[in-house]
Amino acid sequence: MLSDRYGRVATSLRVSLTDRCNLRCTYCMPAEGLDWLPKPHLLTDDEVVRIVSVAVGLGVRDVRLTGGEPLLRRGLVGLVERLAALTPRPALSVTTNAVGLERLAAPLAAAGLDRVNVSLDTLDAARFRAITHRDRLDDVLRGLAAAHAAGLSPVKVNSVLLRGVNDDEAAALTRWALGEGYEPRFIEQMPLDAQHGWKREEMVTAAEILELLGRELELEPDPAHRGSAPAERWVVREAGRLLGLVGVVGSVTRPFCGACDRIRLTADGQVRNCLFSQDEVDLRAALRTGADDAAIANLLRGAVQVKRAGHGIDEPGFLQPPRPMSAIGG
Ligand code: GTP
Ligand code: 5AD
Ligand code: SF4
Repeated sequence: MLSDRYGRVATSLRVSLTDRCNLRCTYCMPAEGLDWLPKPHLLTDDEVVRIVSVAVGLGVRDVRLTGGEPLLRRGLVGLVERLAALTPRPALSVTTNAVGLERLAAPLAAAGLDRVNVSLDTLDAARFRAITHRDRLDDVLRGLAAAHAAGLSPVKVNSVLLRGVNDDEAAALTRWALGEGYEPRFIEQMPLDAQHGWKREEMVTAAEILELLGRELELEPDPAHRGSAPAERWVVREAGRLLGLVGVVGSVTRPFCGACDRIRLTADGQVRNCLFSQDEVDLRAALRTGADDAAIANLLRGAVQVKRAGHGIDEPGFLQPPRPMSAIGG
């Protein structure tokens, strides 16, 4: 078991497969991109499978593939197939911007992928261009439809609301997503951008998100148990008619660190016990110098043991992690 000093148990592993992305969301990375990891630093498929298989042996039950943009990883379908063949088989999901998902959704589902979460901040093509610096809204919408058709459900749609950019779209995104059979979620922006431009006072808070939604929709807390889910869920009605559930991920103002069950593996083989940790444990070096599974397991245990109680964003002296979100895995 992977437990820490606060009694939390890590059962969910987020594996970043690449730090590259085909979009340039303003709150994530600069238009010119970043200095990408050199290819030889990236874990190979064999190395990823090996680490996940050790983690599964230590009680990890959920594996989420992230990026950058994980669909850019060559051989992704084959990798999913190999992860789905592990015993016990972990639940497998991907967090993606859905560019290219139209073509990949069915093969990924056939390979054993269970579900996808898709990042989409607006339904307006001009706004999409302004936020992502790319003209790909139609690709994303087709990718979402393909995921739904392939049974990769529930398909969740993650939206980051940006003040004065798309914060008037919360209700419209919710209506649209629920109408399509997707689960909408709104996310507080965290200090994880490569540009270090995050300002707390500019962040659209969970309270504001609820207020924005509440102007047009009726919300009631979802009675279902939340568990370790980052999203607080609300039952949505419009003029008394049930539309479905909406999630609000208030990572900053309503942190869920106390129930956190996650660890992360970066594309270059570093274990991080938190999105915000300053330290990493180097599994790539261990693997490449011949470490056996027991040694890998010990490194994973050690990484989880020293996990801090919380992200500390509101504490004095808070420092953004040395890597941006795109290199940690969202
Ligand atoms: P589900 O299992 O479908 O609920 O996925 P998820 O919400 O855990 O994952 P997803 O990749 O869709 O992430 C959505 C948002 O959750 C991200 O944009 C982050 O804001 C937030 N998030 C994910 N992991 C963490 C984490 O470890 N810590 C914090 N504070 N926020 C996280
Ligand atoms: N804060 C919160 N969410 C972010 N995402 C990217 N950068 C940030 C940030 N700084 C979102 C993406 C995606 C998810 C994995 O993380 O929009 O939906
Ligand atoms: Fe790419 Fe996701 Fe970053 Fe947007 S937020 S640039 S889709 S990694």
